[in-house]
Amino acid sequence: MSGHGTPIPMTSSPCGPLTGTAPVPGDKSISHRALILGALSIGETRITGLLEGDDVLDTARAMRAFGATVTDHGGGAWSVQGVGVGGFAEPDGVIDCGNSGTGVRLIMGAMATSPITATFTGDASLNGRPMGRVTDPLALFGAHAVGREGGRLPMTIAGAHDPLPVRYTVPVPSAQVKSAVLLAGLNAPGETIVIEHEPTRDHTERMLSGFGAEITVEDTDEGRIITLQGQPELQAQQIAVPRDPSSAAFPVCAALIVPGSDVLVPGIGLNPTRAGLFTTLRDMGADLTYENERIEGGEPVADLRARYSPDMQGISVPPDRAASMIDEYPVLSVVAACARGVTDMQGVKELRVKESDRIDAMAQGLRACGVIVDDGPDWWRVHGLGAGGVPGGATVASRLDHRIAMAFMVLGMAAQQPVSVDDGRPITTSFPIFEPLMADLGAQLSRSGA
Ligand code: S3P
Repeated sequence: MSGHGTPIPMTSSPCGPLTGTAPVPGDKSISHRALILGALSIGETRITGLLEGDDVLDTARAMRAFGATVTDHGGGAWSVQGVGVGGFAEPDGVIDCGNSGTGVRLIMGAMATSPITATFTGDASLNGRPMGRVTDPLALFGAHAVGREGGRLPMTIAGAHDPLPVRYTVPVPSAQVKSAVLLAGLNAPGETIVIEHEPTRDHTERMLSGFGAEITVEDTDEGRIITLQGQPELQAQQIAVPRDPSSAAFPVCAALIVPGSDVLVPGIGLNPTRAGLFTTLRDMGADLTYENERIEGGEPVADLRARYSPDMQGISVPPDRAASMIDEYPVLSVVAACARGVTDMQGVKELRVKESDRIDAMAQGLRACGVIVDDGPDWWRVHGLGAGGVPGGATVASRLDHRIAMAFMVLGMAAQQPVSVDDGRPITTSFPIFEPLMADLGAQLSRSGA
């Protein structure tokens, strides 16, 4: 698990062109869901391309603790022998979800309608994040949560003995909350209905349908209405996890800002609920193309080609696009710093409750690197310095946040002076091969401070 032991400072120095192919790891969101739904189904689910980052490995351990048999066959191939809906056993020990909000929130949902009790904890970042957004709707099913002040971990959940189905409107745009309610709804009798005003990533809905659940999604004036019939018998599946667009964002954005670059990122999941960054980059004038578009395992996939784009312009990112690129604002702000003009990002309050307060982490780090950034409660603005215009030359706190660490490593590749982070270890939560993959393309990364 990240966050334990001694920090490892990392430095990224200005480099020559980034070229070649960047096979980034499997999708983190889909990997968590494949393990959890595999554990809740009957039979053996076989998964290929699973992300073997700390976050997902913590979820695999948790599924074992709830009674599933989870086996690593090597090379991203895993199998899960499920216990069926309602079949979770009570874990003996505390469930440690490390750095992963997705892991803990989805697993809480999955166990909340079984008559078992489990205690959850995580690292310092996860233990500071709000869980009330999940435990509030889980209480409607009949589950009881006791945690620290402000609904923080460590927290114990006593699952409902006689769960009731729920109709719930998600108050914040969050796929984790939506998914926790749907997973809880699996073991409640009757229809569980979730309504979201802003569409968020829909991997849970797609995968539930793939496992044989009766689930419908309607777009209405009230929002997206998702209806799940409780107590299905989920059937084990074969799941090929596409490569993660949120990880692809790092080599793609690096290629756009390092002179002479031309990088191909193959087999990227381009589910419309995830692809907002790439639309935004194209709106800014990025030379970014989709090749070989196809459907794989029910998800749209393409190869992305990104080439150096010295003429990018800042834009106002439409707030209704935020949910489809919520994890990509840190690296977008790095591209924005290297574009001309101002990039305005509104309606992004959720960034303040991620692995870190990402607006503050990026604003402070970018300022230390010579970039002007304005910010408010739910917005921020980056004043671009144009291609080659960012001074760099600073050490930035990564705040136990993988995406902050990787965003500043990307900035170092295109800044005038190297950029360092105080601790690069969080990167292994989502992108364990970041250093060798970026080095193969031509990046100059070292494990030491500036
Ligand atoms: C995720 C949902 C998002 C995202 C996270 C993964 C998921 O979080 O930021 O990295 O897999 O459901 P929120 O639900 O908090 O928006």
